[in-house]
Amino acid sequence: MLADVARVLLSRETIRQRVAALAAEIVAAYAGRSDRLTFVPILSGSIVFLADLIREMPVHMRLALIHLSTYRGTQAGQPRVVADISHDVRGRDVIIVDDILDTGRTLTFVRDMLAERGPASVRICVLLRKPGKAPPSLHADFVGFDIEDEFVVGYGLDYNDLYRNLPYIGVLRPECIAAADVAPG
Ligand code: IMP
Ligand code: MG
Repeated sequence: MLADVARVLLSRETIRQRVAALAAEIVAAYAGRSDRLTFVPILSGSIVFLADLIREMPVHMRLALIHLSTYRGTQAGQPRVVADISHDVRGRDVIIVDDILDTGRTLTFVRDMLAERGPASVRICVLLRKPGKAPPSLHADFVGFDIEDEFVVGYGLDYNDLYRNLPYIGVLRPECIAAADVAPG
């Protein structure tokens, strides 16, 4: 598996430090009302990030997992709910957590769906953000790193459901990406 990685983009230590700082930002943003927080991680990509993030946050919080499927290979697809959250988010300060903001399709879909359920607020936290593709209407409130528009794996991010367990974020060797997944042009 390690031989498939062409380049490490974000090391384990770099991620660890930024995630701790991001957790502190979130706690500060909800100072005095952090006991109403419900985190909604989008499965499966956000799990590693989420696990590290919440352990840096000494506040009362709830977790409500949502399972979506969005991707085939490296080509973006339409989000689909595989398993909805089982919690009531009415009156809660919701923070949707995802691994990466790319086109914004996934987060727009989840945000709009949860906004209809009467939460006190809905904000968005992503570990990574790619430039330029998300519409202005999709604002990420908490962002770990801005990265270039290239396909990355590790720390929860997958390629065809593989590589999520890499402890860092890296770029795959081109020969590891199936020819069928390379966009024409
Ligand atoms: P969006 O809907 O286009 O914003 O894409 C968000 C989802 O696509 C993320 O939750 C990821 O699962 C996946 N995704 C986007 N870019 C990458 C990438 O570079 N590597 C792995 N997954 C990605
Ligand atoms: Mg994915």
